Amino acid sequence: MDTHTGSSAERSVATRAVHAGRDDLTDLGLHAPPLDLSTTYPSRDAKAEAARLDAFTEGKDDGGPPIYARAANTTVRRFEQALAELEGAEASVAFASGMAALSAVLLARVSAGLPHVVAVRPLYGTSDHLLDSGLLGNTTTFTSAKEAPSAIREDTGLVVVETPANPTLGEAGIQELADACAPVPVLVDNTFATPALQRPLAHGAAMTLHSATKYLGGHGDVMGGVVACSEEFARTLRQVRFVTGGVLDPHAGYQLHRGLTTLPVRMRAQSAGAAELARRLAGHPAVARVHYPGLGGAPRPADQMTGGGAMVAFEVAGDAPALIGAVRLITPAVSLGSVDSLIQHPASISHHIMDADSRADAGIPEELIRLSVGLEDVEDLWADLDQALRAVAGEPRR
Ligand SMILES: Cc1ncc(COP(=O)(O)O)c(C=O)c1O
Repeated sequence: MDTHTGSSAERSVATRAVHAGRDDLTDLGLHAPPLDLSTTYPSRDAKAEAARLDAFTEGKDDGGPPIYARAANTTVRRFEQALAELEGAEASVAFASGMAALSAVLLARVSAGLPHVVAVRPLYGTSDHLLDSGLLGNTTTFTSAKEAPSAIREDTGLVVVETPANPTLGEAGIQELADACAPVPVLVDNTFATPALQRPLAHGAAMTLHSATKYLGGHGDVMGGVVACSEEFARTLRQVRFVTGGVLDPHAGYQLHRGLTTLPVRMRAQSAGAAELARRLAGHPAVARVHYPGLGGAPRPADQMTGGGAMVAFEVAGDAPALIGAVRLITPAVSLGSVDSLIQHPASISHHIMDADSRADAGIPEELIRLSVGLEDVEDLWADLDQALRAVAGEPRR
């Protein structure tokens, strides 16, 4: 098939990432998408606006002027359209952060009278905490992917899974999970893989969720969250967003839309670096264990994710927190998905909000270090990791 002349659905991800959400720009005589900072949208026809407002409050978005910025924003819509296209979803709904996105999904299910969640551990620490705390009226059974189907009850409204998971990079077979849990919808947190490497909806997931703060933005300078799903569920999420007000700022929408254009090329380059570092770490005397999808030929879900992604986790044979203080090039900070490499100690930071028993249940050891591999030269990253590991092991730095 000639992917250069086909419809947008036939074009490659790299091409769609550059053009999605921009189809009308040439007709508008624009190259960069306009940044819409309006909080309100004038109209002389109050009756017509009343009818449109009714539609908005039912979560329907006709693509016209948004009336008020808590209902919609034209710049954010472009990002939503582009992300939905990349995920192969009918729609996507953007929020102020990944946690705001997860909260909206939970509120939607709780308000539908289905407050029970089956959650596959491990999950990002604050996601685990939100589910565990029941703050939004939900109850949660934490389990493994294998045991998830047997944890489903009459009132189960959602199955939540991260694959690859934060922080251990464990993978779950999405199709198998979705088939076994049907008709309960499966939410896949796709933050680590991104649609450049994995499209969960093609494997039976009902929705994907992103901390857009990470790879979608890609430069560590924008916060956001997004859920890609059916238009029907998107309407419920828009209703929740309209009343709770957790909207994505238009500047953030602009940056995230721009971030998508380089997502495939960043993921490819950063994943190559991560695979090489994982291989080298596995042979380092100061490293007890490396977690990286498929490392050393370990089995993986078939045909699900391209490559292993740009995250690596490893267990230090020694003082893991001390390693964070010993790096000199890699940024010692929480978060991930930026062009610079970031390193952190999950038990102290990203998963600290969980109690020690929950961390143990989730399989997160105290010795674990999580590394988000950026775009630096792999030799420079390796030199930094090697000197830091030697320093922690009490050997002289080279
Ligand atoms: C996998 C995953 N999901 C969700 C979140 C929450 O996203 P945010 O920090 O944008 O609220 C994070 C944050 O680190 C994450 O790593």
